[in-house]
Amino acid sequence: MALIRVPASKLPELQKTLITCVRYISADGSLRDVLAAKIPKEQERVKSFRKEYGNTKVGEVTVDMMYGGMRGIKGLVCETSVLDPEEGIRFRGLSIPECQQVLPKAEGGAEPLPEGLFWLLLTGDVPTKAQAASLSKEWAERAALPQHVSAMLNNFPTTLHPMSQLSCAVTALNHDSKFMKAYADGVHKTKYWEYAYEDSMDLIAKLPVVAATIYRNTYKGGKGSVTIDPKLDWSANFAKMLGFDNKEFTELMRLYLTIHSDHEGGNVSAHTVHLVSSALSDPYLSFAAGMNGLAGPLHGLANQEVLVWIMKLQQQVGKNPSEQELKDFIWKTLKSGQVVPGYGHAVLRKTDPRYTCQREFALKHLPDDPLFKLVSSIYKVVPPILTETGKVKNPWPNVDAHSGVLLQYYGLKEMNYYTVLFGVSRALGVLASLIWDRALGLPIERPKSLSTDALMKAVKKYT
Ligand SMILES: CC(C)(COP(=O)(O)OP(=O)(O)OC[C@H]1O[C@@H](n2cnc3c(N)ncnc32)[C@H](O)[C@@H]1OP(=O)(O)O)[C@@H](O)C(=O)NCCC(=O)NCCS
Repeated sequence: MALIRVPASKLPELQKTLITCVRYISADGSLRDVLAAKIPKEQERVKSFRKEYGNTKVGEVTVDMMYGGMRGIKGLVCETSVLDPEEGIRFRGLSIPECQQVLPKAEGGAEPLPEGLFWLLLTGDVPTKAQAASLSKEWAERAALPQHVSAMLNNFPTTLHPMSQLSCAVTALNHDSKFMKAYADGVHKTKYWEYAYEDSMDLIAKLPVVAATIYRNTYKGGKGSVTIDPKLDWSANFAKMLGFDNKEFTELMRLYLTIHSDHEGGNVSAHTVHLVSSALSDPYLSFAAGMNGLAGPLHGLANQEVLVWIMKLQQQVGKNPSEQELKDFIWKTLKSGQVVPGYGHAVLRKTDPRYTCQREFALKHLPDDPLFKLVSSIYKVVPPILTETGKVKNPWPNVDAHSGVLLQYYGLKEMNYYTVLFGVSRALGVLASLIWDRALGLPIERPKSLSTDALMKAVKKYT
């Protein structure tokens, strides 16, 4: 046994990490076995909670909430993560820095493996290194694309947006859905989660191949090999298939694919996947629907929009703008009726910890990069201006304000591809949620809507 000396100043931090590790440590076994053991207990816990508190009120709905995108209405259950407006996301109770500490890493790597994060999201446990490695292996084994999907991708015009290509390819993957087949064969509903799990595992495994094929076809003339190496982890395989042979870029991919995975249940992509799958559409159809939402500029496409906006800024005022030039450009954007991409959030009210951890990555690996310096200057100037408008509820940067600059640095320059990376990561969160939706037997989603006339009549009762 090796003894490690720890400076007294580091003891509280070490103690916290150890407590976190012990609390979350995973039982032995495969992901499927660990999950299968948890489901009956969780079903029982939810059943008795509902029995006791089923009629308890947890909030109210105002007319403004109905017209205002349902902001603030507590109307969904999502087990995988919860977003605190001040603190940011916690994946099964763990913050991003905690995940960076306790989740398994690749040999010689410093960033968490997304495999470990998926295990955490699905089971609530931190897996061992061996358990995370078992997922790398299993995903590599499930990664092959059916011929009709490769052919379809190879026939798309390179002018078709990469997100449209992704959505079409995922939809066509449902040809082999195990859930759809089991449903057609009359499987009992208590077993739905098992087929949702199988489809989700297949889909996650295939996504890097789909995404890399899109990249190669759209930007590299279809050249380069998109083959899985069974010895590599999910992110390393993805980076390799994209054509990057750089350890730091692979580390960035591990971090990127971990932090973009989940942001509780109400955001457009997560909610769409949940809604569509509530009709018992299979995981492929549900995920493809979510990707169509992620492709919107107010949601995932914002990471592309940020870079487009920064390029415009550089074209108009040069590569090294003064503070005043930055301010003028931001006001010009606002006065033309557009949003400043990468800033603001529907729930968060502070700087997004996903922004912060990407900034820390940049400070460690690319502190002198001119584009990173520009992004840092923008970070100083935008929040006071958005506050000055008097209407923006959160003037702070979100995840999308930082991801593009890192990708640019390592040579992944094609901005309209960025949301595909986001989509590959988002699969981890939304599919873990979907599996739990089926395990808990959640019904078809069907909230009540009212016309303005009906609403006007309804409010009379309350006034
Ligand atoms: C994320 C976003 C859609 C949240 O929208 P929201 O919940 O309606 O935000 P708010 O309640 O703060 O919006 C109030 C007003 O401020 C505006 N606002 C919010 N963020 C803004 C931004 N970054 N730039 C300019 N105006 C913004 C809204 O458009 C709205 O204006 P309106 O009343 O004229 O319609 C919004 O902040 C935004 O468009 N941000 C830029 C796009 C982006 O980065 N998206 C990725 C999110 S992770």
